[in-house]
Amino acid sequence: MKVAASILNCNLLHLEDEIKKVQVAGIDAIHLDVMDGHFVPNLSFGIPLLKVIRPLLTVPILSHLMVTEPEVMIDKFIPDSDGIIFHIEATNKAADCLKMINGAKKLAGIALNPDTPLSEIKPFINCIYEILIMSVHPGFGGQKFITGTIDKINEAKAMIRYRKNEIVIAVDGGVNPDNAKELIETGIDVLVAGTSIFHSKDYAETIRKLRCSI
Ligand code: DX5
Ligand code: ZN
Repeated sequence: MKVAASILNCNLLHLEDEIKKVQVAGIDAIHLDVMDGHFVPNLSFGIPLLKVIRPLLTVPILSHLMVTEPEVMIDKFIPDSDGIIFHIEATNKAADCLKMINGAKKLAGIALNPDTPLSEIKPFINCIYEILIMSVHPGFGGQKFITGTIDKINEAKAMIRYRKNEIVIAVDGGVNPDNAKELIETGIDVLVAGTSIFHSKDYAETIRKLRCSI
């Protein structure tokens, strides 16, 4: 089970230090929340920021595109991302998005909002590396975990059981040491956590707690 750190709620005034610190603390990946103020009611990071943090990275970075018509932006994120996750609700060109990401040999993910059924991504299941299940309504860090997400994770696990070794199931939003154990019991592959790590005193200890290894 891996832990990815969302930097949305880290101390952005000391972004370089935060990235270095969370990597030393043992994070498995950085999760970059890209928001366009249209698909979600918030604006966050873009290409310039991704380019300047890239040289700092010792772990993979996955760009979580919370943007309308991701097909227009994906090629700009490909060079500096190890993976790109777009929202199925944001495009009617999901196949084109996957072609671009897979064509560039990057990790391709599809994210689903809490109200979006898993059936929406079934047609694409053979072309994705990761299913990102949102456990909050996207747009902000520090929100409360939506408990119904556990059932959705179990449903996703069942949906991919014939490909369980190839498709990663990740959960994103309101993940913390208090709900990590229940999440891990579902067999989740990746926990995306932001606030619970960056607002804690000891990043390494929090990451260990998220992994339920203490
Ligand atoms: C929300 C983002 C999440 C969020 C996670 O739209 O996709 O990645 O920043 O942050 P926390 O862990 O604070 O909920
Ligand atoms: Zn995210």
